[in-house]
Amino acid sequence: MKILIVGNGGREHALAWKLRRDAPAAELFATQPNPGIARLATAVDLPPSDVGAVTLWAEGTRPDLTIIGPEVPLALGLGDALRQRGLPVFGPGASAARIEASKAFAKDLMARACVPTAAHRTFTSWPEAQAYISAADAPIVVKASGLAAGKGAIVCPSTGEALAAAKSMLTGGAFGAAGSEIVVEEFMEGEELSVFALTDGHDAVLMLPSQDYKRAGEGDTGPNTGGMGSYAPVPIATEATVGLVRDRIISPVLEGLRDAGAPFRGLLYAGLMITGSGPKVVEFNCRFGDPETQALLPLMKSSLLDLMIPIARDGSISGAACDWEDGAALNTVLASAGYPGSYENGKEITLPPRSDRQDRLLVFHAGTRDTDGRLLTNGGRVLSVVGVGGDLEEARARSLAGADVIRFEGKTLRRDIGWRAFSSDARATGS
Ligand code: AMP
Ligand code: GLY
Repeated sequence: MKILIVGNGGREHALAWKLRRDAPAAELFATQPNPGIARLATAVDLPPSDVGAVTLWAEGTRPDLTIIGPEVPLALGLGDALRQRGLPVFGPGASAARIEASKAFAKDLMARACVPTAAHRTFTSWPEAQAYISAADAPIVVKASGLAAGKGAIVCPSTGEALAAAKSMLTGGAFGAAGSEIVVEEFMEGEELSVFALTDGHDAVLMLPSQDYKRAGEGDTGPNTGGMGSYAPVPIATEATVGLVRDRIISPVLEGLRDAGAPFRGLLYAGLMITGSGPKVVEFNCRFGDPETQALLPLMKSSLLDLMIPIARDGSISGAACDWEDGAALNTVLASAGYPGSYENGKEITLPPRSDRQDRLLVFHAGTRDTDGRLLTNGGRVLSVVGVGGDLEEARARSLAGADVIRFEGKTLRRDIGWRAFSSDARATGS
């Protein structure tokens, strides 16, 4: 079996690692793989977002399955191009990928499907946005509607900041074309949760709920990043909450997408706020989340491939389920000094020997490169260090111990990933 993985970050390394376990004999290929992925897959030297070139390669090699990791090639229609050539793809077509690529589209869909989310208005005109924001109560959230690499949402504590954010997007070119349409929405109070649904467009298998720590600094301070860590499972995600997410959010949205002529085959990611009045949608993504995937897949006992194949072949996953380890996993991201601002690449990385790690400590590569046999930093987020344990405390200890023995100049990490779970344990036990 030939499998192509499109993308080359930490998420794709975790996917390659899991697929290698699910199908040891499969022939894996990956687009411009980082050194971690390159140990598991044959390199295809094409940029992941070059739809034309990847399609041409796939036409020649005819993979039995292509998994598209990042949102950009999905939004550009790589899924459609491959399907048109009869190639099985895990990942939605461009019309369904709009659930991530256009926040305005996602909001309309949610309104039609009565899915709980923040009240909002969409604007393309600055005077109209100005009038609306001036009359609204702070805090207010202003978002670029298009793809902005996770940085297009600005939580504004005051009306003045919201006006400035909206103005910069609608008249100042902030976020380019992605900011020419904006969504202004109500601020939701609560704890965030990520729920991943593997779906054939009708039925969905929900993965273990996880949590992503997006802010750069400990205690959730500082600017938003692509994610500084993650863990699973999440104590606030009770069975009742997950049931609500399935019935009130995932199922109606899949139906809404079918009704819009945009059936979704792949991984639908619901970014949620667990508010006093139940789970509400912050955003949808049309793909696996990064860095949640790195914590989730080491806990997945059943085969991911067995679910991906029917989804990619226009089959059904009705009645399917995932099996999970009983314990927990926690992912500490090691970043370059300065990230998410400017940072330097090319710092030499020292990793612990693989024989010391086995299955309970996993190191997934994100921004790394190999130069003459030396492993160097090559991005803001460099590595994901995932500890697996019988409980979250053990997982955290293993992840941090692993993070501590990895060395590179400027190594930056948050030592408090999972703090919300530890403080909710404390709340639950009254300590
Ligand atoms: P997004 O790009 O929509 O995922 O937003 C990025 C981050 O901004 C989210 O993970 C939240 O932390 C925060 N955020 C976005 N929308 C809201 C909202 N309506 N209320 C509170 N926080 C929000
Ligand atoms: N973890 C957030 C994202 O993947 O967009």
